[in-house]
Amino acid sequence: MARFHRLRVAAVDRLTDDSVALTLAVPPDLREEYRYAPGQHLALRRTVDGEEIRRTYSICSPAPDGEGPSTLRVGVRLVEGGAFSTYALKEINLGDELEVMTPAGRFTLQPAPGQYAAIVGGSGITPVLSIVSTLLAREPRARFCLIRSDRTAASTMFLEEVADLKDRYPDRFQLVTVLSREEQQAGLPSGRLDQERLTGLLPALLPVGQVDGWFLCGPYGLVEGAERTLRGLGVPRSRIHEEIFHVDASPAPAGAATAPAHSTVTARLDGRGGTWPVQDGESLLDTVLRNRPDAPYACKGGVCGTCRAFLVSGEVRMDRNFALEAEETEAGYVLACQSHPVTERVELDFDR
Ligand code: FES
Repeated sequence: MARFHRLRVAAVDRLTDDSVALTLAVPPDLREEYRYAPGQHLALRRTVDGEEIRRTYSICSPAPDGEGPSTLRVGVRLVEGGAFSTYALKEINLGDELEVMTPAGRFTLQPAPGQYAAIVGGSGITPVLSIVSTLLAREPRARFCLIRSDRTAASTMFLEEVADLKDRYPDRFQLVTVLSREEQQAGLPSGRLDQERLTGLLPALLPVGQVDGWFLCGPYGLVEGAERTLRGLGVPRSRIHEEIFHVDASPAPAGAATAPAHSTVTARLDGRGGTWPVQDGESLLDTVLRNRPDAPYACKGGVCGTCRAFLVSGEVRMDRNFALEAEETEAGYVLACQSHPVTERVELDFDR
């Protein structure tokens, strides 16, 4: 069950002009709760003028084997006008305490022998850095090919950490950097990493059909383009893992007309249940939150997957879903923050 605790900031490292890495100290009694799989994220929360703001940031550090971590390191990039990232870049200091949710997310890889690859854009490197550094350290029979796209070298997050991987694992780690706003220099390809480009690049880099897992992370356009490219090259959907950062707000699809006049949601959360009326137009997460403030969420935008719940009975309509894999929706999982009732009674289980 997701929980918040106050963790102390143990380091603030500036990565680029517009990004930092925050290291959070985990006291011994909380280490078990903050044990994470490489690729997971943390939600941070703060209250501004009485309003609670939550944002998720991916953990970039390798996941320790055995006991839980003594520190957690996350990457934060400034988002224009972003309420949390502006605070993180300009105000957070060493020794401050932050409210941090226990790790969540299913964009993960458990170390196993094989060939893996990632296509990332911008801050999308953050979870992949944790995935690749954990994998190569723990599994000597694993190889990783990282294709990353950034605007310029100066705006590239974790440049040193990635260079270190190259030095440490010269035979098992392959790196291709594409810079979209810089002239070609030092042999680096420039231009956008679009579908056409990837279709030419990937087969020249590695045996596409033999890759055991593809990890795509970054802005919506890049992840979608990379997925279409891979599917076009014959890669099965089950080998593609995606995490989308930044989705432009899109209008919710029409469909409210099908909503029944009076619906109720029954939700089970942390072992306790309740049934409440759904107010006009609100998401099922909002209904639950009015009655159970401990319901898990972070983005409320269909992106992070923190609000995932199992639909026990009834039917819902989701506005958008950038977080759940097809297998999860087929298995009956929904994003509560995007769900609206289609039937008069809907039952959700947040504990499954
Ligand atoms: S809270 Fe992030 S997907 Fe629902």
